[in-house]
Amino acid sequence: MDTAINYADKHVFVAGGSSGINLGIAMGFAAAGAHVGILSRSQEKIDAAVAEIEPIGTGRAAGFSADVRDPEKVEVALRGAFDAFGPIDVLVSGAAGNFPALAKDLSPNGFKAVVDIDLLGTFNVLRTGLEFLRKPGASIINISAPQALNPTVAQIHVCAAKAGVDMVTRVLAMEWGELGIRVNSIVPGPISETEGMRRLAPTPDALATVGRNVPLGRLGKIEEIAAAALLLSSPQAAYITGAVIPVDGGWSLGGDRVAMAAILAQLAKAPR
Ligand code: NAP
Ligand code: COA
Repeated sequence: MDTAINYADKHVFVAGGSSGINLGIAMGFAAAGAHVGILSRSQEKIDAAVAEIEPIGTGRAAGFSADVRDPEKVEVALRGAFDAFGPIDVLVSGAAGNFPALAKDLSPNGFKAVVDIDLLGTFNVLRTGLEFLRKPGASIINISAPQALNPTVAQIHVCAAKAGVDMVTRVLAMEWGELGIRVNSIVPGPISETEGMRRLAPTPDALATVGRNVPLGRLGKIEEIAAAALLLSSPQAAYITGAVIPVDGGWSLGGDRVAMAAILAQLAKAPR
């Protein structure tokens, strides 16, 4: 069995790949030799990310500006990547939005904004991406969140959206299995130095409370999520599909939810 993880000349496309965990995933695949396409809204962030990705490996990098809520723009981006690098071997859907808000204070449009980015956006990326995927052989990875598994105070919008994302994973694993396409979710735990944690645990005290409640006793690293994505898209994972896989130091098993709820409820009351 060949156990080396090598993505030389493979095409990896990461929706939401201009920062944080998704950029780390893009960089991980680039280091393993892949050509990498990324998509997000901000051209400035895209340009900076492409400049960071390109020198890493032997592959090339390209960036596309699109909002995942706009399927026509998403199609233009995916077609551009397909024209540049050929069929997509790995498609990652990780664009997301988050802010703490108690349900009673959340407007319908606030709820909709997050569901539209995370859930409808994932549908748009995958549904549009189908035409451009390598068939058979492609791996799709949806980036979920612990809120999909555990009801979380001040996160009703994210809980609903990410639980939906995991159902998209499972349904498409069933529908697209016959095309030789695998579909899985990675559920990152709390990951240090990310926008998500800046929004949900913005103080040293809040970060310490989170760390204490991870069974492995620390926050995760972006590279640890990238490593899981590389493994999950490799031939070693050829029989894994429809799986929702926590990469979280055990965070989703439990912990002191009351302490976390108190932090989030307090944050949600703070002025924006
Ligand atoms: P981040 O740096 O803010 O990443 C979000 C990415 O999505 C950015 O590249 C952003 O770029 C893009 N994006 C946002 N809205 C978009 C839209 N409407 N259309 C296209 N692109 C859009 O946050 P992160 O904390 O690394 O989170 C990355 C992923 O991991 C998310 O799916 C998140 O739910 C998940 N996650 C994070 C954690 C954590 O600890 N941070 C834990 C569990 C799960 P633009 O602003 O340029 O659009
Ligand atoms: N609390 C309550 N409601 C909020 C809010 C907050 N902190 N931030 C935004 N909203 C509401 C807005 O008031 C608006 O509702 P309204 O029209 O009824 O007033 C709605 O959400 C949409 O806001 P808008 O700023 O127009 O959305 P957008 O599409 O420009 O941005 C967000 C989407 C709000 C998710 C924005 O935070 C974002 O772009 N996030 C991406 C980065 C991120 O969240 N990273 C972490 C990933 S885990």
